[in-house]
Amino acid sequence: MYTPLEWQDEYTVGVKELDEQHQNMLRIINRLLLSMHDQYDAQKASETISTLIHHAYIHFATEERYLVQANVPDMKMHVLDHIDFIMKTLELSLKAKDGNQDNRLELLRYLKRWYSSHILGIDRHYIPYLKEAGIQ
Ligand SMILES: [Fe+2]
Ligand SMILES: [Fe+2]
Repeated sequence: MYTPLEWQDEYTVGVKELDEQHQNMLRIINRLLLSMHDQYDAQKASETISTLIHHAYIHFATEERYLVQANVPDMKMHVLDHIDFIMKTLELSLKAKDGNQDNRLELLRYLKRWYSSHILGIDRHYIPYLKEAGIQ
């Protein structure tokens, strides 16, 4: 569970700004993995969670702006998944705050699973539309 996420070529969505934001989120999740490993540093973990949520907000706003610009269909599902990520991350981080290892693992498991399934799933859907709209 503490194995860091690794950037894969298949994560690329073809828009530089979005790829950089995705890479940034990956780095923050990995930083959180480290702060939750062995000697648990509650202060550091809580700062890293705030940073992650802050960057997630920025990323989602950027991505959603492009979705609107490129007129991507079924946008609602995508936006709902972004909102769900913020809510679930907040909920699980509150649970993990007590330092309980099972709760920490639950948070890390969720973040890792969400990261690859969202980027390799719903994010891929917009690629042709953004390309068509000349967004790169
Ligand atoms: Fe997304
Ligand atoms: Fe994304």
